[in-house]
Formats: sequence, C-alpha cells, structure tokens
Amino acid sequence: MCGIIGYVGSKSAKEEILDGLKMLEYRGYDSAGICCFEKGKFSLIKKKGKVATLVEACQGQLKDVHCGIGHTRWATHGDPSDKNAHPFLSENNSVAIVHNGIIENFEVLKGSLQKQGVRFRSDTDSEVIAQLLQKSKCESELKKVQELSTLLKGSYAIAILFKGLENQIFAIRKNSPLIVGKSKDGFYLSSDVNALVDKTDEYHIMEENEIIWIDNNDCYAFDEHLQAKEIVYNKMNLTKQDISRGAFEHYMLKEIMQVPNAIKNTIQECDAVINPYMKLPREMIKELRHITIIGCGTAYNAGLTASHYAREREILVDCVYASEYRYRKFLPIENEICIFISQSGETADTIEALKIAKEHSIPTIVVTNVASSTLNKLADFIIPTKAGPEIAVASTKAYNAQITALYGLMDYIYCIKHKLNCRSCILKDKLDDVVKKLEHYSFKKVNELADIIKESERVFYIGRGVDYATSQEASLKLKEISNIHSESLYAGELKHGTLALIDEHTTVIAIATQKSLFDKTLNSIYEIKARGARVILVTQFEVDIEAVDMLIDLPCTDQAIMAEIAIYPMQMLAYKTAVLKGLDPDKPRNLAKSVTVE
Ligand code: G6P
Repeated sequence: MCGIIGYVGSKSAKEEILDGLKMLEYRGYDSAGICCFEKGKFSLIKKKGKVATLVEACQGQLKDVHCGIGHTRWATHGDPSDKNAHPFLSENNSVAIVHNGIIENFEVLKGSLQKQGVRFRSDTDSEVIAQLLQKSKCESELKKVQELSTLLKGSYAIAILFKGLENQIFAIRKNSPLIVGKSKDGFYLSSDVNALVDKTDEYHIMEENEIIWIDNNDCYAFDEHLQAKEIVYNKMNLTKQDISRGAFEHYMLKEIMQVPNAIKNTIQECDAVINPYMKLPREMIKELRHITIIGCGTAYNAGLTASHYAREREILVDCVYASEYRYRKFLPIENEICIFISQSGETADTIEALKIAKEHSIPTIVVTNVASSTLNKLADFIIPTKAGPEIAVASTKAYNAQITALYGLMDYIYCIKHKLNCRSCILKDKLDDVVKKLEHYSFKKVNELADIIKESERVFYIGRGVDYATSQEASLKLKEISNIHSESLYAGELKHGTLALIDEHTTVIAIATQKSLFDKTLNSIYEIKARGARVILVTQFEVDIEAVDMLIDLPCTDQAIMAEIAIYPMQMLAYKTAVLKGLDPDKPRNLAKSVTVE
C-alpha cells in the first residue's frame, strides 16, 4: 500500500531510489515519483503508471544527486494521475514529502490551510503534510516533524526533505512501517526490508511515533518528546537470490514452485526441539475454551482451512475477517485466545483487530512470515511461517506455510489438553509425505484447464467442509489475477440461489477430498450438469463420472491435510489463466500486496 524509499550517501540517489521503487512496486503501482536535492534545489519527477514509466522519464535527468525520496502509489484519495503522484512539494517549494498511509482528518486540515490562503495542487490527503510543514512556526525542522504527530490523525510513514538542509532526510511513522538501512555508502529509508537487500548490511525497524533524522554522517532517532534514543540495528539476513525472480517468468510462478519448500521449512521450525508452540503457557492452553482466528484475504482462508482441522481435534474455532472483527460488538468469551494470521504482518485491519483483542486482555498469537513486522512486535506470542519473501501480490506459498503452522499448533493444543506427549505426534511424517508429492506434481492437466478457463465468463468453485475453505482460496486466486468473475460456495448451498446462475456458459470446479462428503458433492455435480454447465472435479479418489467434463487428479495423502495438496493445482490454474490472458499475475489490477490502510 504505497512504497517509500529514501537515500543519503555517496552513491547516485537516483539509481538507489529507482532500484528501491522497483522492489517496492508490489505495494502499489498506479504512479511513482522521485525528488532529489540537485544543486541546492528540489528536482521532482513524477508520473502516472508503473515504476518503469518513471525510470524512462528520469533518463538523462538527476545526474549528480546524493539525497532524495521516492514513492510508488496505490491510490486512496484522488485518482491515479501525475498530479496525485508523490512526492508533494509545499506551496512555496520549501518542503518535499512522500507518505504511506491515510490522513483521516485531512479535510479539516486542508480546509483550515485553504482559509489561510494555501493553494493545493492535488486531490490527495498526503499533500496537507507538506503544507503543514511549510506553515509550521516551530523553530527547528525536527520540532516541525514532531508537531506532525499532534496534528495528523490516521496512519503514516513519512519521509521529508527541507530546502536548505541538503543531504538530510527526516522521517516519522505511526501505524505504517518504515525501516532505516545502514551501509558504508550511506543510509536508506524503506517501507520494507526487501528493498534494502544487497544494499545494506544492517537495518533498524522504526518504532511507533519514532522520529528519524539522517544527515551526511549518521542517523539519529528520537521519541515523540524528542528525547534521543539508541538505534537498534538488525543484521540483514536476506540475499539477492531470496528476493529475485531468478529464471522464472514471474514471482508468482517462482513462489508456487516454492510451496513444497515453504511447507518443509515451516515444519522444521515448528518441529524443532524448542519450538514456538512451547512458548505458549501450558496453563493458558489447558484452560483454553475458544479460539478466534482473524485475518484478511488468503490469511483468513488459511484460518478457515485450519479451523476444520481444529474441529476434528475438538477445539472450538471461529474465523472472522479482521475488517469485521474491528467494528463488531465485542462479547467476552471465557478463556479465549485470538490467533492473527498475516503474511506481511503489516495489514492495517489485522493490526487494529489485534489491538482490540489486547485491550480486552485476550492472549494474542500471530502467525506471520515477516519477523520484523508490526504484528510480531505487538503480539504476545509468535508462530513464524518460513515461506521466505513473498513478492507476487497474490499469496501462494505463504498460505501453505500458514496452514502447516496452524496444523502444528492445533495438534499441540490437543496434546496438552489430553495430556499426550507432543513429540509423539506424527504430523511431521504426514507433511513430509505432502512435500514429496507436491515436488513431483505434474501440472499437465492444469495447463489444459487454463486454456478452457481463460474463455470463461464466470467460474464457481464448490466444496463441503474443508473443501469449501480450499475453494474459497482457489476462487480468490482466480479472481485476483485473471479478472474473471469467480465465487466459491458451499456445495449444499447452490440450490438455495446460485443455481439460478448456472447455464452452459458457466464452469464449476468442484473440490472433493473428504470421503464422507464425496457423494454429497457428487449430488451437487449432477444438479449442475443438468443445467448445462461444464464441471471440473478436483479429487484424489479414483472416479469415472459421466457428469464430470475434466478430472484434476490429486495425489493421495492423509485426508485431514489434503488441503495442502488440493490448493496446489488451483494456484497454478489461476497463474496460467492470467498469463494466457496476457495479464501480469504479479501486479493485478487495483490490488496491492501489503494493505496498510483501512
Ligand atoms: C492483500 C493481498 C492478499 C493477502 C491480504 C492479507 O489483500 O493482496 O494476497 O492475502 O492482503 O495480507 P497479509 O499480509 O495480512 O497476509
């Protein structure tokens, strides 16, 4: 949700900022811009479109620049256009800013500035920040930055340049991430660690309300009262290989191929002699009566999948979208814990939902893929997934890693509650089997199916029980990246409404991996076929059913964890369909990977 980058140092600020923007592009790609100090003045270039358009516009420009800020945008206030692209300059061009987040009180602030005669050049909320800084009466730049925290409501990560303070950058953050990178060639600011790989050896995760001041020589941190703070740097442990596309045509393809590894690495983490589950207090687990799982998008779907596994282990689980949890009436449940799932650990709705749970003293566990994330900092307990950096907007390997970690957690809870030896749990062997089968999975049939699906107007996915959860995720993948209308349904619910939409132009993909529910799903297949739709069946069972137009075979594994396998061809189906339609699966229309605004 918008990417910010800043650089001060001996290298070309233009190259460093443009490189960083390319890495941050997954956060938004409707416009991009850069502003650098050039001979004492601001040089500003910003363009509607992807970072590549900005790179082109910068050719031959910004020749000898060593300090600047850049931004890649996902529009919230104001359409994607040159004028609404960041950076923004204040009216008299004395301040330049980039912003990630939402300024909730911008209309009030803008109105009051306009009354003072300030003229605005964009429709964004962000521009008020530059104008406020220009109008500030504080005696130092640092105090002007500090004053922002008393004026702005909402979420913000802001990088600022002040005219006259060449080679200096100021930054402040609240509810949106910002990271400082340190290298022998200078200092960086970035919305995430990935953009700093290969550039810095160390990074510092800015804390809430922290203020940063970078000059030519060093970087200084202050708290909200401007008290100096020590900066804690972490060692950079990612490599260029971790974050590059390598020989793959798209990140999404690379990440689908990494699904087996994501599962393997997550099992290893969770199966270690001292594993993250063991940090959960035994008393808390023994007394546990109810779990609420909270997340957004794919992370929510992972929770839904795991909730079926939990139910089989007599653990009561509810799944709630974070955006709903935040605003629904809170009702206390005795001995409840909340589990928050998030690949990035930065999703605004999930962070706010966690804060609410904490306000009510509910123990909070996060399952995240990014160790440096905000959610990790806020939660009581952390269960890390080990999927490695996920860059494509549509989540794939993180989903498998999430359900792997959750299966382990549910087994652990079951064992503690039933006084069983957790180490005797055989989940690891079962997951090892899944990994082997996925490593050898052939996508031949999936390619054929993609050829059919690319022509479809609408696709329905159906399933019962845990297969419904898989169909939710499969459907989300397809609609996210192929622009084909797709819905998932409980197979038994079809006849209560959606059947009215089924005709010969419809494709229905039925997922059926649970023996006890297979015949029931089959009934739905016959009902669909009778209305002329094309039916695709995804199953591990050997079947020969006339009503089925195509069978996507799954390798067999323990039924309880079949979701790990069933989703795999569906992830690839979405990818192949998008590619066949000539779309960029890594950067789907209107979406962004890390949704750091409400
Ligand atoms: C965005 C992404 C989805 C992702 C969701 C939750 O909508 O496009 O792919 O599932 O956010 O993200 P999180 O980082 O919290 O898992």
